[in-house]
Amino acid sequence: MLVVFLGPPGSGKGTQARIISAQMGLKHVSTGDMLREVSKSASPLGRKLSEYLEKGELVNDDLVNQIVAEFLAKPEYKNGFILDGFPRTLAQAKFLEEIYTGSYKVIHFKIDVEKLKHRVEGRFNCLDCGEIYNKYNTLIKEGECNKCHGSNFQYRADDNVDSLVTRITKFEEQIVQILEFYNERNRLSVVNADEAIENVTKQIVSAVKNG
Ligand code: AP5
Repeated sequence: MLVVFLGPPGSGKGTQARIISAQMGLKHVSTGDMLREVSKSASPLGRKLSEYLEKGELVNDDLVNQIVAEFLAKPEYKNGFILDGFPRTLAQAKFLEEIYTGSYKVIHFKIDVEKLKHRVEGRFNCLDCGEIYNKYNTLIKEGECNKCHGSNFQYRADDNVDSLVTRITKFEEQIVQILEFYNERNRLSVVNADEAIENVTKQIVSAVKNG
C-alpha cells in the first residue's frame, strides 16, 4: 500500500511518517530529505538544489519525478511506502497516477497556516535517528536525543521566515488542484493536523485502514 502525505510545511508530515512507518511497517520516502542530501554535494546539481531549498522554491517536476520513479522501481518498495512531500504540483500528481498501478491513499494534513510558524521556529532534528524537535517536543536531557541518545543535531537552512512564507505560498498555489484531482478519484482523507501528535497518528491509522 502506498500512502501519500500532503500538507503545508510544518504540518507534521515528517513526524507522522516516522511514527506510522514504525507502526505499520511501511518504509518512509521523503522527497525533501532526498533533495537535502543531494544538495550537500559540491556538484553543479548540488549547488543548484541548495539554492532552491534555502529559498523555499519548488524543485522542477522532471527531477523530482525521476527520483520518485526510481524508488517505485526498487524491489524493497514494492509492498508500498509512505511518500512524504510528493506530489507538490498537479503535474507530479498526474505522473504518480500514471506510474503507480497499485492501490494508494492520500492523507491531507489540514491546519491553519498561522500555526505553522510556531512549529517550524527553532525546529531541529537528530542526525543519528532523524527524530524531529521544536518547542513543543523538546529534549528531556540537554544535548541528548530522547530516542537514540545521540548528540548530533542539525537545524534546517530553509527554516527562516522568508523561506517559510515562500513555501506556504507555493503550497497554497498548488494544493486546490491536487485535492480536486484526488477527490475525483476517491483517494483523499483529511486529518486535523492541529491536534496532539498521538491524536493525529490515530486519525491517519484509521484513514489508512478504513479509507
Ligand atoms: P520538505 O522537507 O518536504 O519540507 P516541507 O513540506 O516544507 O515540510 P517540513 O519538513 O517543513 O514539515 P513537516 O510537515 O514534515 O513537519 P514536521 O513533521 O517537521 O521539503 C523541503 C523542500 O524540498 C521544499 O521547500 C522544496 O524546495 C523541496 N521539495 C520537496 N519535495 C518536493 C517536490 N515534490 N517537488 C518540488 N520540490 C520539492 O513538523 C514540524 C515541527 O512541528 C517539528 O518540530 C515537530 O516536532 C512539530 N510537530 C509535528 N506535529 C506536531 C503536532 N501535532 N503538534 C505540535 N507540534 C508538532
